Amino acid sequence: MEVFDMREFDGHELVLFGHDAPTGLRAIIAIHSTALGPAAGGCRMWPYATTTDAVADVLRLARGMSYKNAMAGLPFGGGKAVIIGDPRAAKSPELLASFGRLVDSLRGRYVTAEDVGTTTGDMEHVARATKYVSGLGRSPGEAGGDPAPKTALGVFLGIQAAVRFRLGRADLAGLTVAIQGAGGVGYHLCGMLAAAGARLKVADVLPRAVERVCDEFKGTPVATVKVLEEEADVLSPCALGAILNPRTIARLKAPVIAGAANNQLAQGQDGEALRAAGILYAPDYVINAGGIISVAREYYGGTEAQVIEDIQGIPARLTEVFERARRENRTTNEVADQMARERLGSGRETPRPRLVA
Ligand code: NAI
Repeated sequence: MEVFDMREFDGHELVLFGHDAPTGLRAIIAIHSTALGPAAGGCRMWPYATTTDAVADVLRLARGMSYKNAMAGLPFGGGKAVIIGDPRAAKSPELLASFGRLVDSLRGRYVTAEDVGTTTGDMEHVARATKYVSGLGRSPGEAGGDPAPKTALGVFLGIQAAVRFRLGRADLAGLTVAIQGAGGVGYHLCGMLAAAGARLKVADVLPRAVERVCDEFKGTPVATVKVLEEEADVLSPCALGAILNPRTIARLKAPVIAGAANNQLAQGQDGEALRAAGILYAPDYVINAGGIISVAREYYGGTEAQVIEDIQGIPARLTEVFERARRENRTTNEVADQMARERLGSGRETPRPRLVA
């Protein structure tokens, strides 16, 4: 494996491989940039087929965190960790503490948190070995805890901003929103949308997730294979990545796409097809930053009220992206990437590597 030649390698500052035979830990930490602060990003546990797959994923995700943290205005750089293994079979308190020791060896250059395959409870085990961890339990009124409701709030505010920009509407009353995925984020988002008077069309591969939302918020169930092409004012992807590709884009009907799912565009150039079709795309890492905003406030110490105040900044940042994209005749995803790079301090394609003490 030629890490420096991989497509996903983007001038990352550090890639650390960790192994601990007694606990079976095999983990990789990637730090993309510490230009704006310690690299922060969650720890994913996944049964990668090959080590190369794991390296590619951690490099891609770490760079994504640099952009997300920069666009959220957080004093964090970008990093990510992956633990190679099946979270249902291979996870143990000892393995998580061992991962914590690996994080600790970087002495604060990387701050971890939960991600796909890890939980808030897992981070308590990581915290036995390092203080460089966030996303732990919290007391009432303090920042932190489950980030999903905070992500949902940011997405809700982002949908309002996108609707204002694209449809010229000041509120969501009477508009139809199609939601793909009624999980942690989707559920809370549906509650906020319903309270704002929106009509919901809801799809999830888990029938009980759809039932719960439809019962509580008067939504209409739609088939998972059809949700992307539903007649709606807004499509909100809150389940999977890579759902926007040439095949699906040709069938979209909603003029606004604004949801929580990471990496919604299969490829960067798919943004151009959306633009050509007159569809306004809210770049995923700008609109879904509520969770990392919560993690940041928890890490640096703060209150839940401050988290909510910080999340109120998401619609203004999105509107800046939309306006610049319109002015420069470019796609919203390109503009967001460029703004993130500018915030990373160089404006160059690749941020300058910088070591911190
Ligand atoms: P989750 O796992 O709680 O919910 C995802 C839901 O999508 C599940 O109910 C699942 O059954 C459903 N789903 C899976 N495949 C589907 C399909 N083909 N069609 C329809 N539904 C399907 O995840 P969560 O936390 O709600 O996150 C949703 C998305 O937002 C993910 O892409 C995640 O990476 C992203 N995200 C989440 C954040 C958070 O704070 N939880 C923060 C930033 C991004």
